Amino acid sequence: MPRIYLDYNATTPLDPSVLEEVTNILKNYPGNPSSVYEEGRAARILIEDSREYVKSFLDAGNSGEIIFTSSGSESINLGIIGATYAYMQNNKKKNPHIITSRVEHHAVLNTFKFLESAGVETTYVGVNEFGGLLLDDLKSAIKENTILISIMGANNETGTIFPLKQIFEEVKKIKGDIIFHSDLVQVIGKSYFSLKDVPLDLCSFSGHKFYALKGCGALYIKKGVDIDPIIHGGHQERGLRAGTENIGGIVSIAKGLNVLKNNMHEELDRINNLGSIFLDKLFYGIEGIKLNGHPVNRLKNTINISFDGVKSETLLFNLDLYGVSASAGSACNAGAVSLSHVLKAHGYDAKRIESAIRFSIGRFTTEGDIDYAVSAIKKGVLKLRAGN
Ligand SMILES: Cc1ncc(COP(=O)(O)O)c(C=O)c1O
Repeated sequence: MPRIYLDYNATTPLDPSVLEEVTNILKNYPGNPSSVYEEGRAARILIEDSREYVKSFLDAGNSGEIIFTSSGSESINLGIIGATYAYMQNNKKKNPHIITSRVEHHAVLNTFKFLESAGVETTYVGVNEFGGLLLDDLKSAIKENTILISIMGANNETGTIFPLKQIFEEVKKIKGDIIFHSDLVQVIGKSYFSLKDVPLDLCSFSGHKFYALKGCGALYIKKGVDIDPIIHGGHQERGLRAGTENIGGIVSIAKGLNVLKNNMHEELDRINNLGSIFLDKLFYGIEGIKLNGHPVNRLKNTINISFDGVKSETLLFNLDLYGVSASAGSACNAGAVSLSHVLKAHGYDAKRIESAIRFSIGRFTTEGDIDYAVSAIKKGVLKLRAGN
């Protein structure tokens, strides 16, 4: 029986050329990049070349604006906590206020919760039934003490894309000194992004979402934005992230972006087209299903569907038996019984949320995989609806 992997939003398999590059680096570059002798210098060059590559991929102004971290989550923590703490250090009497959306990944939401416990004021802005951000609510939430706003580029569960450029510009028009952070973990690798279009102050991304290694990420910090470190120790990464660098991970990020860039138009066209075929075949083949999230402004690789009369865990279990891997909500929530906070924020009822499954396709998905998956899904849904 084949295995059909339809969970690219949870993680992507390693690209073969990334694997080749990383294997070479791990074999041939044993030095600590902080050491001053030859092995150390060689490792340092690899890191700085990778930083330069990431800078040019994002159209950043300077490679010093890129800080490598251990994950997307760490980048998000560093950006949000680091900026808030730096403000609190410099403005001891003022209580900062920070804003995000209700549909962010837990890496953002739990960082906000953590800051709440340190006395920071927070606001969570909602979305409409299609997952579109309530921009007027965001604008009216901005206050004199608002110092930071974090809004994701695309949602990991539904694929809904937020109009970041418009949101960024409207926020800056109201209060130019607000630090604007964006979680771009689902954007980089699935959509076009340039800091020239949206000159964010901070943004976070993660290697394992674009065919690089797991356990590595990066934070872009625009020159002039004040950040305190959250991991203390040595002076690595401009003193903002102590710890000997994960050279393999860092190189994999640059190589992963390089592979992506070399074939970006073709790859995105192919995946978007395949995503539309997948959606059409599901709607044509199975009755009683609903698309969750935005019908148009969405990453086409992501298809979040509710199946009437079916519980998502049971369907996922059956799909796994048929060889199909997908997930309910985000993978980071797997095992949790609580309803998806993202779908709840859309105002969906419990039945719709309990029956929602996210399928996400990517570089190695074929049309044959889609055909196999659609017939497995249909078989599973009909079986469960028949009470078997
Ligand atoms: C939107 C989003 N943000 C943040 C993260 C966390 O990234 P990482 O797994 O690298 O910590 C994820 C991972 O699924 C994500 O989808």
